[in-house]
Amino acid sequence: MRNAGDVVLSARRLVTTFDTPSGRLRAVDGLDLHLRLGEVVCLVGESGSGKSVTGLSLMGLIDPPGHVTCDEFWFDGHDLTTLPESEMERLRGRRIAMIFQEPLSALNPSRRVGDQIAEVLRIHGLASRAEATRRAVELLGRVGIDDAQLRARSYPHQLSGGQRQRVTIAIACIGSPRLIIADEPTTALDVTVQTQILDLLTEMQTSLGSALLFITHDLGIVAELADRVVVLYAGQVVEEAAVEDLYRTPGHPYTVGLLASVPDVDAPRKRGVALAAIPGTVPNLLEVGTGCRFRERCDRAHDRCGAEPPMITLSEGHRVRCWLYAGR
Ligand SMILES: Nc1ncnc2c1ncn2[C@@H]1O[C@H](COP(=O)(O)OP(=O)(O)O)[C@@H](O)[C@H]1O
Ligand SMILES: [Mg+2]
Repeated sequence: MRNAGDVVLSARRLVTTFDTPSGRLRAVDGLDLHLRLGEVVCLVGESGSGKSVTGLSLMGLIDPPGHVTCDEFWFDGHDLTTLPESEMERLRGRRIAMIFQEPLSALNPSRRVGDQIAEVLRIHGLASRAEATRRAVELLGRVGIDDAQLRARSYPHQLSGGQRQRVTIAIACIGSPRLIIADEPTTALDVTVQTQILDLLTEMQTSLGSALLFITHDLGIVAELADRVVVLYAGQVVEEAAVEDLYRTPGHPYTVGLLASVPDVDAPRKRGVALAAIPGTVPNLLEVGTGCRFRERCDRAHDRCGAEPPMITLSEGHRVRCWLYAGR
């Protein structure tokens, strides 16, 4: 792992529920997550596995009818379970930044991008009104936007998707976040632009020394980017490992299935390698009972899988939630 530093975020038994007309569903169910400064952790799983809800929960962005609870939540040395809501919001807003798949949703459509950046600089107290416009242009240049002076006067819809994502990265990094959460930030972009945006993101992360939680379903990106990987299935972590361990010796039958299309982390890294199609679908979260949530789709399922599988440590940092490894 490259420069794994201090733990910046530590969440224990994070649960996010939504009250729906058909009942309460647990979109995230007992997640343990520890992120260190300087590391890139990829959160992977099929659509509907709870990746976005995890990111939003960590950011404090879940609104009713959603509800988040956590046994422990430490961020940057603060115990967020005891902080008043207002301070918690301030801390998260400044020190955790989130980047979304669709940059348009993060930008105000009716304001010039330079003005939007300038406003964030002022809010963070980093520039006076007079300075902010100049600093905004500088920042646009810093994130690789050509003709920054001219582009600062553009509205979001006048920029390309890649340029818009550069703008949201610039804005996200203004407060020097200790943690950046990026939720499929390149999924909507062309492959060549994807590469540029990933390079920019990791360059910003490295220069800030922050942690990066990168949410993706693209295993090519995972192989390239991740120090560590967390695999989610139906709201639960089913496996967690350093990227090399996960690709070389995946433990959970679900991970084995996902990786079927990617033989080795050292194999030529192909972008756009989607998760292999595993027959069947993620269970309806309103209907999951006890036991392993993957058992309906698992070719190694056994009677005991009707009981909740234990989380088992295979080697340092490699954990898997599966009965196959119990009693070894
Ligand atoms: N606001 C909401 N209300 C009810 N259910 C939600 C809401 N947001 C997400 N969910 C449910 O939570 C589950 C996880 O969703 P999500 O985190 O978006 O998945 P992913 O990002 O992995 O594709 C899904 O079953 C989804 O339907
Ligand atoms: Mg999502």
